[in-house]
Amino acid sequence: MCGIVGYIGEKNACPILIEGLRRLEYRGYDSAGIAVLSGDKIDVKKATGKLAALESAIESCAPEGKIGVGHTRWATHGRPSDENAHPHTDCIGNLVVVHNGIIENYLRLKEELIGKGHEFSSETDTEVIAHLVEEAYNGDLVEAVRKAALMLEGSFAFVVMSSDKPDLLVAARRHSPLVVGIGSGENFLASDIPAFLPFTKKVYFVDDDMIVALDRSSASFMTLDGKSVEKELFEVTWNAEMAERGGYEHFMLKEIHEQPVALRETMRGRMSSENSKITLEGIGLTDEDIRRINKAVVVACGTAYHAALAGRYMLESLARIPVEMDVASELRYREPVIDDRTLALVITQSGETADTLAAMREAKRRGAKTLAIVNAVGSSAAREADGVLYTYAGPEIAVASTKAYTTQMMVIALITLYFGRIRGTISPDRDAELRRRLWSIPEQVDLFLSDYEAVINIAEKYHNIGGFMYIGRGPNLASALEGALKIKEIAYIHAEGYAAGEMKHGPIAMIDPNMATVAFATAGRTYEKLISNIQEIKARSGDIIAIAGRRDEIINNYADHIIRVPETDEMLSPIINAIPLQLLAYYVAKFRGHEIDKPRNLAKSVTVE
Ligand code: G6P
Repeated sequence: MCGIVGYIGEKNACPILIEGLRRLEYRGYDSAGIAVLSGDKIDVKKATGKLAALESAIESCAPEGKIGVGHTRWATHGRPSDENAHPHTDCIGNLVVVHNGIIENYLRLKEELIGKGHEFSSETDTEVIAHLVEEAYNGDLVEAVRKAALMLEGSFAFVVMSSDKPDLLVAARRHSPLVVGIGSGENFLASDIPAFLPFTKKVYFVDDDMIVALDRSSASFMTLDGKSVEKELFEVTWNAEMAERGGYEHFMLKEIHEQPVALRETMRGRMSSENSKITLEGIGLTDEDIRRINKAVVVACGTAYHAALAGRYMLESLARIPVEMDVASELRYREPVIDDRTLALVITQSGETADTLAAMREAKRRGAKTLAIVNAVGSSAAREADGVLYTYAGPEIAVASTKAYTTQMMVIALITLYFGRIRGTISPDRDAELRRRLWSIPEQVDLFLSDYEAVINIAEKYHNIGGFMYIGRGPNLASALEGALKIKEIAYIHAEGYAAGEMKHGPIAMIDPNMATVAFATAGRTYEKLISNIQEIKARSGDIIAIAGRRDEIINNYADHIIRVPETDEMLSPIINAIPLQLLAYYVAKFRGHEIDKPRNLAKSVTVE
């Protein structure tokens, strides 16, 4: 977790660092801090709380200088406080460090350093880096950082600035994201590209166990064992505007509305018309590999896990691949049965979720082929997997995931149809029918987004309800779980997602007038059974909000409120059904007056286990 930035150039660093941190605040917002080299002194400013607190703290005394580092924190070691806020300094304040990650051996290192006379001023694991670099420093900052990094266990991306090196920033990375931005006469370091997008689109992705030395005009890279490395410069296609709110009140609403475009982008180059064959460049699997797969193991967390849950129905029924599901944090400790015929399907928006990466590495170690569905280009998952299929959703800034979710399901649908054809498990007619349906999805999502007054009215009516139950069956069990997650994440209302048929085995006891049920009642093979489940709830005085097809008249007899969605095949319906569940959570949170893009206690990218 945490976001780091570094700037070196000819401009005043402070506003650039603050702007960078603003764009990284999704990574954590317990505290923020910057350090700028002013003359031969490092000026450090920190504040507990969101970035706005730091901005007010520096209003009349912003540090001036052309080189600096910044940090936005999501606390791991040490509570959120000014002392624990980064940047951290060595004993005399001659060098500063900003860090993202966890130093697992920090206690041992700290004791050793204290034994050598170092004085610590925070409870953080990060501070050991500052003292280790201080200990190793004899005028060569790159070498000192390299020596310090070699002593660290755990994960890190950190940047060091020293008061006697006014033209140098040194950074190191292992398992935490770090990118370098190359401008003209100025260069940048950051946890994520949007931090410097207003200034440059030219990017180097830093690899694990690599050191970066950055001056105003160049970046050089070396491995931790001191070998210099040539890196390829990438040009990203996102522009700064894309990473901004684009006129919407919140990023989340903007990102919900971006879904038709994101879905189209995700299909682009893979399907060129409703009749075209699917091509999946980058999949990293030969036809023979695809035929040999005898099991898929899903590796994902949070919303990405729900995308996989929806996709499982497709993969099992159309590609005839048994799918084993477990959240990544459980999977990796479970001694999973994995071999070289297993496909590990890794799904992650950020490509940096620590549990997902660890589970992916474990699956790989056991011989599985890894296929990652990733949004962040150049992220760790994308670089480490055998094959990568990007979701092309663009930057997702709101903590609650929306467009990443629907595009992940879109990619799983493409994979399923691709596999189904190669494995001969899908009939040509069904294949053609589903491709036609898939092709229409962006347009159908667009249609829904053109008028969702019903969702806003329902949100207004229920925004003070005691709890929500979300029920669904088949692929829409995923919709139920995702609906409940979204409400919890941003509206802070207790919600449960349940397989509708399981309600009578316990949760139905919770039904009363203070518990509303959202039922995913779009057409499918268990539609009648779902209607019975709805009736059971109605009989116990529970209100029903149904998400149902435009032409469904049966539902009129059972639901208190109906949100009408365009009709599609049941397999693909979770993609369309995601939109009302996202909007419902958004508007319930809005009516409750919450800060939607940065919900309490959460962070966008969870890079700690
Ligand atoms: C965090 C986010 C979720 C996201 C999950 C997995 O918990 O708040 O929205 O689904 O991480 O993230 P990933 O980047 O791996 O998809």
